[in-house]
Amino acid sequence: MTIYDQIYQRAEPYWRTRQGEIHMPRAYEYARQLLAYYPEADETVVLPAILLHDVGYALIPDDLQLQSLVGGTNQNPRLDVSRQHEIEGARIAGEILTDLNYAPDKIIEIQRIIDGHDTRREALSLNDALVKDADKLWRFDPVGVPICAPWNKLDIGPYLDFVETKIETWLFTDRAREIARTLLAESRRQLDKTIYDKIYQAAEPYWNTRHNDIHLPLAYDFAKKLLAHYPQADESIVLPAILLHDIGWKMVPEEKQRNAFGPKATDKAANRLHEVEGVRLAREILASLSYDPTKSEEILTIIDGHDSRLEALSLNDSLVKDADKLWRFGPTGVGLDYRRFEVDLAWYLDYLSQKIEDWLFTPEAKEMARVELARTEVESRDWRLEIGSA
Ligand SMILES: [Fe+2]
Ligand SMILES: [Fe+2]
Ligand SMILES: [Fe+2]
Repeated sequence: MTIYDQIYQRAEPYWRTRQGEIHMPRAYEYARQLLAYYPEADETVVLPAILLHDVGYALIPDDLQLQSLVGGTNQNPRLDVSRQHEIEGARIAGEILTDLNYAPDKIIEIQRIIDGHDTRREALSLNDALVKDADKLWRFDPVGVPICAPWNKLDIGPYLDFVETKIETWLFTDRAREIARTLLAESRRQLDKTIYDKIYQAAEPYWNTRHNDIHLPLAYDFAKKLLAHYPQADESIVLPAILLHDIGWKMVPEEKQRNAFGPKATDKAANRLHEVEGVRLAREILASLSYDPTKSEEILTIIDGHDSRLEALSLNDSLVKDADKLWRFGPTGVGLDYRRFEVDLAWYLDYLSQKIEDWLFTPEAKEMARVELARTEVESRDWRLEIGSA
């Protein structure tokens, strides 16, 4: 584990507000891109500074956070609040870095950068300029735009026009301006996408845990297949619900996930946490996309009980539940699951065949499960051979 990984881990708990859990990993990635372009900058200053720059927001009440947005369309931001998050951030950063035995002179430079990262208009150094630029670039990218536009009380189109006028004033380095223009072009292309594409895109950053990046596209496909059988179901409920149902896993530490699902699961609380956090995050995403409020409520109700509630509330709910489980029967799901659940493959295939009636609601899903399982039986003969010869 590098020192940056350690700082990342220590900073992460402070990101669970104001979409910091989305903002910070992106800002970190932009900082790395900029550092690759400006080798004369000091990554031992820039990377800790970007990871820690907003930790002070964890101490600011939610309702004050957005009033403090500097550089947005709000003409009278609460500068006192903005100062407070900078000062607290510099303090917390100092504590974390001292604890990790970071070089004292670097800590001082990092603290000076954090203490003023929003309210100080000029950059103190190239390091400072890269931090400021990396902090702002997500405002242009397709993930940040749908989050930042409502913060500025603008629809996406007018928001993109607004940030385009800010490229020269917000950003210090030529490279960052170039990146911003590329991101802006990409965000404009997104404007033409369907609402489901946009939800997909907003959900996707949360899928990189628990193999959800593999589970979700498969579940989404099954949902579309099931919807084809049920024209009376509502795709504007089912599709967002399936895309968003597992985003809460991102908030469950990976060492806790281990015992939270699968045939040997023991930790009901950790499983419940992914539902509760999923509802919280899905609510933010749907609101950021101005999704119909009544539909949003139905979607959130489905997410809230997608694992813990064993019965289905409606046809829409049963299609989501079925689409969620079907990937477990295919070769991809089985291949991942029997290894991570640490069970015997033959035992697991038999277990799955007995769960078809239990887990699935619609006859079409049960039929799909049988077809998938038969496909897996055939494909997995080779896996057994490989294991047998090992
Ligand atoms: Fe920031
Ligand atoms: Fe789930
Ligand atoms: Fe799931």
